[in-house]
Amino acid sequence: MSDDIQVQSTSKTPALIAREVARRRTFGIISHPDAGKTTLTEKLLLFSGAIQMAGTVKARKSGRHATSDWMEIEKQRGISVASSVMQFEFRDHIINLLDTPGHQDFSEDTYRVLTAVDSGLMVIDAAKGVEAQTIKLLDVCRMRHTPIVTFMNKLDRECRDPLELLDEVESVLKIQCAPVTWPIGMGKNFRGVYHLINDEILLFRAGEESLQGFEVIKGIDNPRLQEMFPMEMDQLRMEVELVHGASHPFSLEDFLAGKQTPVFFGSAINNFGVREILSALVDWAPAPESRDATVRTVQPTEEKFSGFVFKIQANMDPAHRDRIAFLRVCSGRFERGMKVKHLRLNREVKVSSVVTFMASSREQVEEAYAGDIIGLPNHGNMQIGDSFSEGEMLQFTGIPYFAPDFFRQVRIRNPLKIKQLQKGLQQLGEEGAVQVFKPVQGGEVVLGAVGVLQFEVVASRLLNEYGVDAVFEGTSISTARWVSSDDKKALADFEAALGHNVAYDAAGNLAYLATSGVNLRLTQERWPKLTFHATREHA
Ligand code: G4P
Repeated sequence: MSDDIQVQSTSKTPALIAREVARRRTFGIISHPDAGKTTLTEKLLLFSGAIQMAGTVKARKSGRHATSDWMEIEKQRGISVASSVMQFEFRDHIINLLDTPGHQDFSEDTYRVLTAVDSGLMVIDAAKGVEAQTIKLLDVCRMRHTPIVTFMNKLDRECRDPLELLDEVESVLKIQCAPVTWPIGMGKNFRGVYHLINDEILLFRAGEESLQGFEVIKGIDNPRLQEMFPMEMDQLRMEVELVHGASHPFSLEDFLAGKQTPVFFGSAINNFGVREILSALVDWAPAPESRDATVRTVQPTEEKFSGFVFKIQANMDPAHRDRIAFLRVCSGRFERGMKVKHLRLNREVKVSSVVTFMASSREQVEEAYAGDIIGLPNHGNMQIGDSFSEGEMLQFTGIPYFAPDFFRQVRIRNPLKIKQLQKGLQQLGEEGAVQVFKPVQGGEVVLGAVGVLQFEVVASRLLNEYGVDAVFEGTSISTARWVSSDDKKALADFEAALGHNVAYDAAGNLAYLATSGVNLRLTQERWPKLTFHATREHA
């Protein structure tokens, strides 16, 4: 009898995993600050029924971390420092939305979050067009050919000409646009959008908060439309003809290859166009796909569990001093209490306490599949880039660190606190809040960041979480490169010769700290046996 059950359960597992993988969508929002990412996130959750009331996302953001000082910075500056993960259901699909910090100073964290998604939702303020942050983020998506859905937001305001916006996306972001909806008017005269594929018109009503949706009128030639908007309809027909002639029809293949983006117009604050985006993500965006590891490619439907850590966040809950490693599941079925191998440490760990990020709260997760994000509480032994698997040595690749652009030296006011400083910097370095370099010869620790505001966050966290009052000072360093070579002697010579400018980062990788671009170039020329990297992967 028990044999029967055994056979049944194992033979069912592959089908179950395949079904669960197929219904998962994991995406991140790419946008410049103020384009409407927070508003849109909220409306996506509202549509899915994950939250009942608009305003919850913002309230939750400030409420949960109210006593943590670095969140105070976030509140004061009105920026989002930490990424979060939200899981919700829509049309029998499980959607994992990975929020990304919007402020340009926090882009390193944002970059890495993008390595854990399968698709991106690009939000553009239609009055402003393509902005700086969006360009940078799309560059990262391009590295992995991530499919991108585009939402032109704020059509309830005076915007730029829609054709001009598409032109700008194509020329600046180098991605083909396939408009799926087309706006009818804008600002005070915004009437709705025409769905080019479904031949439907979605009528706009400002302030719409209901989940019933908006009125849909079938057919661009419907006489009702002519009656309602005689002026606009003539204009729309002309524009649609132009759009059909001048732009690309939607191609699922090109979208999945990251060459083309379907474009939707709407207004997040009015809930308008949001359902269409969710449908696009469910219908067109890819389910979790295979991922490269050092030894082989891993399929999401494999029975054995595997995954990698793309983000560490310390002290999410100030009362517990916990560190959460955000792990993206790459294959198999994760079950609470299972034993997995932590590859870097070559150690079995029993994962009994896990958190998932349901839109409404942090909850214990019982099971997870490829595409899902799980949070592993730990005391500092997990690092960004770490892989976990059920036995096999599968080290996932492609989780980058980016060479910092800004540097500071750290000094403490109270020398007795040196231990706490070291501990704090080690942890913040592993978490990726800042990059920590220890020069080989003498000198104080050097901190590197992609944006200067990271230093403020670190100073504030050192004080509040580690009791260290640190002073950050300018340095002569202007850029850094990680250094590698097969020639061990060349590396040792390099360390000995340039010890003041050679350092180890928090994960123990060798780096060269250059005083200028010229200095870097000269050093590279003088040490031809070494390779200098602007990004590095896991430890
Ligand atoms: P972000 O997360 O990308 O930084 O943007 P966020 O959603 O916070 O939106 C930035 C501003 O744009 C907010 O106004 C928000 O209300 C507004 N907004 C978002 N979507 C739309 C839209 O469809 N139409 C219009 N007209 N405005 C929109 P704010 O005044 O800066 O903040 P708040 O006081 O409204 O929160």
